[in-house]
Amino acid sequence: MSPLDESDTYKLGSRPVKRLGYGAMQLAGPGVFGPPKDHAAALAVLREAVARGVNHIDTSDFYGPHITNQIIREALHPYRDDLTIVTKVSALRGKDGSWLPAFSREELTRAVHDNLRNLGLDVLEVVNLRAMFDIHHPAEGSLEAPLTVLADLQQQGLIRHIGLSNVTARQIADGRKMCEIACVQNYYNLAHRDDDALIQDLAREGIPYVPFFPLGGFTPLQSSTLSDVARQLGATPMQVALAWLLQRAPNILLIPGTSSVAHLRENLAAAELTLSRKILSELDAIASRVEASTS
Ligand SMILES: NC(=O)c1ccc[n+]([C@@H]2O[C@H](COP(=O)([O-])OP(=O)(O)OC[C@H]3O[C@@H](n4cnc5c(N)ncnc54)[C@H](OP(=O)(O)O)[C@@H]3O)[C@@H](O)[C@H]2O)c1
Repeated sequence: MSPLDESDTYKLGSRPVKRLGYGAMQLAGPGVFGPPKDHAAALAVLREAVARGVNHIDTSDFYGPHITNQIIREALHPYRDDLTIVTKVSALRGKDGSWLPAFSREELTRAVHDNLRNLGLDVLEVVNLRAMFDIHHPAEGSLEAPLTVLADLQQQGLIRHIGLSNVTARQIADGRKMCEIACVQNYYNLAHRDDDALIQDLAREGIPYVPFFPLGGFTPLQSSTLSDVARQLGATPMQVALAWLLQRAPNILLIPGTSSVAHLRENLAAAELTLSRKILSELDAIASRVEASTS
């Protein structure tokens, strides 16, 4: 069973998606701002992903801004029926590329309409509300007002499902009292495991957990253990990092990002890798060492 097979899927909103998807953030220019260096290469990455069976793409209209969604539309519209595009709202970009919180009713409504227009859709399948109390980490604070706005837009038929991003367990629990939460998207990977317990809790509830920065983000993961394991398996470190996530919990859906067709192919081939118990425990030790070095 491979995470790119029909047999290994997990329900995201109303549809099953394959467990290996694609994150489109790397398609914008440097700093996720402005156009990509190579427009044709960006189109090629998206077309290759879908040709190889990817049916879950993560994006936002604040990538670029607008540009990433416009590239997705240019590359893939009209979309395959089984393609689930997930977007996120709650930020605007300053003229210098800065990320500015945008949580008012007007800003959220505009963001949903921008996503619809730039993606060329009548309804957004899943919209994640990204918390910005601390831009880098989940931090407590009420999401009641912005969730109310998204629930209203859902009622109007513009959004099918609502998810949450960069959130705490309490914010998820409070959110679930207001509306169905279709997925959670937080920072998590082999070396950054704050959400270990949360992932198990969500798995029990059948809620997908979608780690962002699965490869480490702007500075991809580097570890001698990861490199040693990759060598033993005849794989690359990035493939091992993705395979570890796939084996970590069944509700994990992956959206590794890349601007390169070669890296895309490499990442999707991680679906074929199976890690033994011994290797999993060697890899688990990476996070303990990171924790010890930062405490
Ligand atoms: N909710 C949120 O707040 C949030 C935040 C960040 C990201 N996201 C979402 O999560 C997705 C994934 O995150 P991400 O793209 O930032 O980080 P990522 O997937 O952890 O890593 C992307 C980085 O790894 C490099 N890379 C990818 N495949 C590689 C390979 N096989 N070998 C070597 N390097 C490789 C990419 O460079 P190349 O382009 O050169 O391959 C890029 O620098 C994003 O696309 C976005 O959709 C969400």
